[in-house]
Amino acid sequence: MNICIIGAGYVGLTTAAVLAELGHEVCCVDQNKQKIEQLNNKHIPIYEPGLQELIHQNEQRLTFTDSFDEAMKNSVIIICVGTPSWADGSTDLRYIQSVIDDLSSRIDSYKTIITKSTVPPGTNEWMYTRLLEKGVPTHLFDIVANPEFLREGSAISDMLHADKIVVGLRHGDNRSLPVIQAMYSNIDAPYIVTSLNGAEMIKYASNAFLAMKISFINEIARICDAFGVNVNDVAKGIGCDPRIGSHFLQAGLGYGGSCFPKDVKSLERTARSRHIEPHLLQAVQLVNDSQIDVYIHKLQRALDDLPQRTVAVLGIAFKPNTDDTRDSPAERFIRQLSQTGCLIHAYDPKATLSNDHRPNVVQTKTIHEAIDGADAIVVATDWTEFQQLDWAEVKKQMNGTFVLDARNCLKRKEIEQCGLHYIGVGSG
Ligand code: UDX
Repeated sequence: MNICIIGAGYVGLTTAAVLAELGHEVCCVDQNKQKIEQLNNKHIPIYEPGLQELIHQNEQRLTFTDSFDEAMKNSVIIICVGTPSWADGSTDLRYIQSVIDDLSSRIDSYKTIITKSTVPPGTNEWMYTRLLEKGVPTHLFDIVANPEFLREGSAISDMLHADKIVVGLRHGDNRSLPVIQAMYSNIDAPYIVTSLNGAEMIKYASNAFLAMKISFINEIARICDAFGVNVNDVAKGIGCDPRIGSHFLQAGLGYGGSCFPKDVKSLERTARSRHIEPHLLQAVQLVNDSQIDVYIHKLQRALDDLPQRTVAVLGIAFKPNTDDTRDSPAERFIRQLSQTGCLIHAYDPKATLSNDHRPNVVQTKTIHEAIDGADAIVVATDWTEFQQLDWAEVKKQMNGTFVLDARNCLKRKEIEQCGLHYIGVGSG
């Protein structure tokens, strides 16, 4: 198949590489000329394990362009542009609207237009109507909602081994499903075929449910803390029940990234727009927003003269195996901690601190520079490299003895055996 992907961001590039790997001819278009130039010079602008290799492996079938007209030669168009939030939490659909307007003046043969971008319920129906209003006749296009469920850090495998393929169709559309089935013919996953609004809701409900699991276990961790209970034991205990499931019960600093915070907020706004009070969604965000305070208080209690101390914060990215810092709890933690006046040595294997931090925040090039002379260490992102630290060596380099495990990912006994003080929330 000849496929055009609009948007060479995280979702667009991953989708393009995987579809090329599946044997399709893929053209990826983005209006950012600099990005396209980089891609054509074999430089991949984001870090995602395996992506660079996959793009290079499939370069015969994969092209990058900033020309919309070039891209419109394809009959299948996949929209992967960003859908950021407005300040009030609602979704900014300007990029979607601009794509639809660009398409409307160029459609002169039948196109299957597939939306992968995460959009609030009602958006795909609105896109359909807008194309009609712009004069595109119904026989020349169909709109399909086909959300992605990719996790950063394992996006390629998530797409190749999808647990489902969600397809939202307009009532009466009998042209699009065979196109989608042909496109994904090498992916073995069950199809969930529903309406356009239904597919949009599946994506939102899925992210909101996962965020809810995280906030749930974080609230349980606070209660565990008061009773000296290890929340990891509780997560394991409840996770064995298939009705609950063991995933997304890792307590810590809370959820971040480009999806969960934005999508939960947007679903809240969507509910309100129809006069539904989303109590649970509010609670999910309330727990998440206050999670940083819980850990800062722990550190303040351990180090009463915190403003005079040096703290090494290990982790800047919102989760391991990515350089992404969008809505990162680790970076939020650093920002809040810096307000106490202490000196912060931040380190991350891939991510870079944004440049609007206070002068008492320094990013170090190596983990050793970060730890050197630190009074306390905080593990804010659960990179494997932090979990595998030689704590006896760490102790020699530190000035103090406190290790705050803000991701519940360290081995407490090992740390304590080296004469260090382990601090956590719900750590038993
Ligand atoms: C998420 C969804 O998983 C994916 O399906 C969707 O397409 C995009 O959003 P992603 O943002 O890449 O993917 O990250 P994910 O692995 O889901 O983690 C999100 C956040 O939750 C991270 O900050 C992570 O550290 C945190 N998290 C996750 C926890 O705190 N505890 C957990 O048990 C799991």
